[in-house]
Amino acid sequence: MGERWYTESVIYCLDVETFQDSNGDGIGDFQGLIGRLDYLTRLGINCVWLSPIHPTPGRDDGYDATDFYNVDPRLGTLGDFAELLHEAANRGIKIIIDLVVNHTSDEHPWFQSAVASKDSPYRDWFVWTDKEPADRHQGMVFPGEQAETWTYHRKARAWYYHRFYDFQPDLNFTNPQVRTEIKKILAFWLQLGVAGFRMDAVPFIIELTEPGNTNSPMDFDYLSELRAHVQWRRGDAVLLAEANVEPEKLPEYFGDSGGSGNRIPMLFDFMLNGRLVLALARQNPEPVIEWLRTTPKLPAGGQWATFLRNHDEIDLSRLTSEQREDVFAEFGPDDSMKLYDRGIRRRLAPMLGGDRRRLELAYSLQFTLRGTPVLRYGEEIGMGEDLSLPGRYAIRTPMQWSFDTNGGFSAGPPVRKVISSGEYGYKKLNVTAQRHDDRSLLAWFERMIRTLRESPEVGNGTCTCIDDGFPPGVLVHRADGATGSMLFLHNLGTARVEVDLGSLAAEANHPNEVFGDQDYKEVGDLSALELGPYGYRWIRLQRKSA
Ligand code: GLC
Ligand code: CA
Repeated sequence: MGERWYTESVIYCLDVETFQDSNGDGIGDFQGLIGRLDYLTRLGINCVWLSPIHPTPGRDDGYDATDFYNVDPRLGTLGDFAELLHEAANRGIKIIIDLVVNHTSDEHPWFQSAVASKDSPYRDWFVWTDKEPADRHQGMVFPGEQAETWTYHRKARAWYYHRFYDFQPDLNFTNPQVRTEIKKILAFWLQLGVAGFRMDAVPFIIELTEPGNTNSPMDFDYLSELRAHVQWRRGDAVLLAEANVEPEKLPEYFGDSGGSGNRIPMLFDFMLNGRLVLALARQNPEPVIEWLRTTPKLPAGGQWATFLRNHDEIDLSRLTSEQREDVFAEFGPDDSMKLYDRGIRRRLAPMLGGDRRRLELAYSLQFTLRGTPVLRYGEEIGMGEDLSLPGRYAIRTPMQWSFDTNGGFSAGPPVRKVISSGEYGYKKLNVTAQRHDDRSLLAWFERMIRTLRESPEVGNGTCTCIDDGFPPGVLVHRADGATGSMLFLHNLGTARVEVDLGSLAAEANHPNEVFGDQDYKEVGDLSALELGPYGYRWIRLQRKSA
């Protein structure tokens, strides 16, 4: 693997709590996860992103921590966590953890102390104002569930700021003590052996909130500071940021105007996510092609992380209302499937009507576009959602391992209901069943990921769309890097089509089809490449010895 391991990785995200319970208390834990590392190894995963692991009252599924230097005792001990790091490393799997430092839980001792007295050393660790701010009812992240961003605290006798729920008070990043403490937290986990962090809510971390100002200044230099700190402590550590902002703003998160990529090395591509879903809904790749063309140029070393599903709703807020309506009509027709007026709280398999061909097409496209693919647990077996659960919990049900009680997740009463009935219930859909079936989605994912591992130019090379008047529904792109060139064809529509790429024949050196949805005729001189409905083909154009 090259210098920047994160460009040649497949990241798997999971919540320890819902992955595998080892002691029958109904809660997934580190020991359970350790027991499943071989599964992840076989799948071809080499990096795991863990949802928050800290002690928490659990009012936002762990995104409300009460101690950044410890693990939630329900998941195990710090010792178990260290064992997990060791066992994962033995298998070549890196672990990154969610870093949720924009805010704490209101039960965090820092906030408890801050509200108790104006003289508390922690008072200034949070964001306060004495008068009701004019923008009190603006900037909510969870409309419908959150009424305001400034809340009056009776004990503290002041208003405190919370970008998210009222039980998640924002830390005050104008306070140098807070900045120093956050660096200490990063260093602590690096010292234990994590390979990096998925940084939660980065735009709000660097926002220097001023009461009444809906356009408070942003301190991007703090990101440079953090990056330098992390890199000194562990040279190959990665930061993967959640920054769902307008495209023009993205470059600043990667680096300053000097062009050196001195801030966050990897960002989730939220724009691509919305556009991929739109393209699937319309069976037309245009929105994806347009985004690939207009994506701002990244500084050297900058990398996208691509995803179709994560632990939150699919956020469609960066689409036009017309585009959004098209997606809702196709993938979230029922009101119960929608969330916050902007998103869909479903897993991909049911969104695509359980159509295996369409699922393969969607994941083949995500995994071959530029960037590092991130895969949400359970997607590899096509898990469904449980709309009877509130909000985002619909897509956070326990992993379905087998035909056993609770899908083999736990022998005890599960922390969250396992999906048990219908097409997506564990009695029909689980890892064991798919393990015994070479044609299963799981077996497909294993082959697909393994093929990708032999195509490092996808993650570390350039990605270019080829536009040559192809039939509607067809997206053709190529990846070029030090190890060679790959060509990818995807048909988002249902018509059988033929694509002429004869113009590339001259540069192809024994073109070789390495993956596809079916056995197609020989690629020949590339001038008559057939594609079935929802078909896809991966063709190696040439290989270079690096
Ligand atoms: C991020 C997380 C989300 C969480 C929020 C508050 O958006 O992805 O799950 O609720 O931050 O921490
Ligand atoms: Ca347990």
